[in-house]
Amino acid sequence: MDYKNKKIKGVLKQDYQFFSHGLEGVAAFETSISYIDGKDGILIYRGIPIGELAERSTYEETAYFLIYGSLPTKAELKKFSNDLENHISLDTEDIKWLKDFPVAAHPMDVLNTCVSLMSLSEGGDYEIGRESDLKAGIQIMGKMPSIIAAFDRIRKGKEPIPPDNKLSYAANFLWMLNGEKPKEKEARILDLCLILHAEHGVCASTFATLVTSSTMADVYSSIVSGIGTLKGYLHGGANEQVIRMLERIGAPENVEKYLNEATKKKEKIMGFGHRVYKALDPRARILKNYARDLTGKRDEVLFKTALKIEKFMEKKFGPKGIYPNVDFYSGFVYKALGIPTDMFTSIFAIARSAGWIAHILEYRESSRIFRPRGIYSGPVNVKYIPIKAR
Ligand SMILES: CC(C)(COP(=O)(O)OP(=O)(O)OC[C@H]1O[C@@H](n2cnc3c(N)ncnc32)[C@H](O)[C@@H]1OP(=O)(O)O)[C@@H](O)C(=O)NCCC(=O)NCCS
Repeated sequence: MDYKNKKIKGVLKQDYQFFSHGLEGVAAFETSISYIDGKDGILIYRGIPIGELAERSTYEETAYFLIYGSLPTKAELKKFSNDLENHISLDTEDIKWLKDFPVAAHPMDVLNTCVSLMSLSEGGDYEIGRESDLKAGIQIMGKMPSIIAAFDRIRKGKEPIPPDNKLSYAANFLWMLNGEKPKEKEARILDLCLILHAEHGVCASTFATLVTSSTMADVYSSIVSGIGTLKGYLHGGANEQVIRMLERIGAPENVEKYLNEATKKKEKIMGFGHRVYKALDPRARILKNYARDLTGKRDEVLFKTALKIEKFMEKKFGPKGIYPNVDFYSGFVYKALGIPTDMFTSIFAIARSAGWIAHILEYRESSRIFRPRGIYSGPVNVKYIPIKAR
């Protein structure tokens, strides 16, 4: 081909079937894992409303339901819980790695690096398929809480605590983090938070895992994409930023001034708004009640500040469909459980691993590589000028 004289006639609009900035309103595949009715603020996992699962299920059961597609029998749940437990312990090599990480590292970066490290044990022999994908997925789910708990202890100069396999997934995390057996109520509340965060349709991080797995990459690489995407403050990172914003505001009497200035500058208020929900996020409603129950004297001012923000935002942005999302009140619950602020997004990632794995397995069944276009708005037919002549 005479590539030197090949000319582009111009950017052809018909190259693109349609344009949607940020893919808003676009469906790219079918899924039976979850559905969001954004107008009425409803979320279902495989048909069951989130409120019912939060009240009646456990995280292990919900994770099984998302991944395998049906509620488990007693025996199936026991096997699934045992499979998770088999991976929960960190070996000496894992702990050595964690001890070598900088203590100032962000827990999300630690999580991402450790999931990537897990893939090294595959030795390049990973065979894409349901069996390997499930094996890797369950290994990742099992190890994530142990990694985060151990890293927090190491950075505080303490030794990691081995898991207690008699405890539930949520209780075990609190045990490995604090070195004290959690009260039943505390473990149950964390369990409920994990259920609420386990799945949420084609959010940015789930989409990222699917983009990666659609190239026939392994589950480790796909989940690394998911964790990296979740970290951003427009997505899962918002829960950490909510508490930081509340601390900056300091007291209810400062809310109006802060929000007037921020919204004048078109700044996003953390923990509000959603691409799909134009009503109150049902998870936020549940979490607000727990946040109110759990917030003690120490964080009372912070909670009152949050209520004032909600009131201000509802008046100013409610008519635009901007309401609190899952991240607005979750931080209060984590704070009350003694979880450090920079670990909030990692808790989200631990929970969401179930949804990510469920979507990877489902999409594999009818996989097609994701390959959208970008509307080219650059120049055409530009002459190459050799470096000496520039
Ligand atoms: C979640 C989010 C990224 C969705 O983004 P999106 O669907 O692309 O929505 P847009 O950013 O286009 O926002 C639409 C309009 O609402 C406004 N808006 C959206 N979220 C807002 C917020 N949290 N605070 C103030 N204004 C907000 C935008 O400024 C924009 O206004 P405009 O029409 O006058 O330009 C966005 O709401 C946001 O940044 N929220 C804060 C971060 C957060 O809590 N993320 C966690 C989500 S679970």
